[in-house]
Amino acid sequence: MRMSARPDIRLEGVAKSFGAAGRRIEAVAPVDLVLAGGQMTALVGPSGCGKSTLLRLIAGLDAPTEGRISIGAETPDALRRRAGLAVAFQDAALLPWRTVEGNVALGRALARKPRDPRAIRDLIALVGLSGFGRRRPAELSGGMRQRAAIARALAGEPDLLLLDEPFAAVDALTRDRLNAELPPLWEARGATSVLVTHSVAEAVRLSDRVLVLTPRPARVAADIAVPLPHPRNADVLASEDFRALCSDVTEALRVHQFPQSVAAQ
Ligand SMILES: Nc1ncnc2c1ncn2[C@@H]1O[C@H](COP(=O)(O)OP(=O)(O)O)[C@@H](O)[C@H]1O
Ligand SMILES: [Mg+2]
Repeated sequence: MRMSARPDIRLEGVAKSFGAAGRRIEAVAPVDLVLAGGQMTALVGPSGCGKSTLLRLIAGLDAPTEGRISIGAETPDALRRRAGLAVAFQDAALLPWRTVEGNVALGRALARKPRDPRAIRDLIALVGLSGFGRRRPAELSGGMRQRAAIARALAGEPDLLLLDEPFAAVDALTRDRLNAELPPLWEARGATSVLVTHSVAEAVRLSDRVLVLTPRPARVAADIAVPLPHPRNADVLASEDFRALCSDVTEALRVHQFPQSVAAQ
């Protein structure tokens, strides 16, 4: 049971391009990758490099142009259809006619988990929305909608959690609190997770491994293990190791984003 909740994600020669021949946009170059079950992998890379495209392929929301993806023994599409994976994307797609509670409850229902009003209340409290359970999305700020979407994604207790810049619209204080309080939740479940983020510090703080991607088409420029202890408390975040890892990621981003300037030095 525990094992089945920790599927490896395997990408074999996965590429994605958009548009007709002649005006083709290559978003993802052929990529071979194994993301270990139960790990949190962060994807960082310049804007427009293909991060969201890669995540949509893993989510089974889009099909690769070449290659194949498996999650455990399943295809992404099969896993998605039995609600074994959950996504929280930057544009929080809540159902506008449902309340926050209704949206989070739907996350459980779609995953065929038993009704559990207490679990739903706890999740809403965790993302800082206590007192807003009866509100509809239109009555919330962008950051609050984002947090409701994270609660909904977690509500189904997915084996695989895919987060695309989930904290982009959240204020700095709330972001910091979510950075501290969400990881124990997915760690306790042993969920495999992939996080796209613009923040180097967030990538290092939340993950076991950071993949730095090249400008479009995305390929893996650097594969940086994050062997920091858990929980990533204030001591860990203040450590020399944490700072060194952030510098490694920043340097890999810089080298691949501006290769000319590096070559000229
Ligand atoms: N559905 C689509 N149709 C055409 N081009 C797309 C589509 N989705 C993404 N792209 C293009 O693919 C590239 C990578 O996009 P994306 O994965 O969203 O980048 P990122 O998330 O890293 O910012 C961009 O050039 C983008 O314009
Ligand atoms: Mg994106």
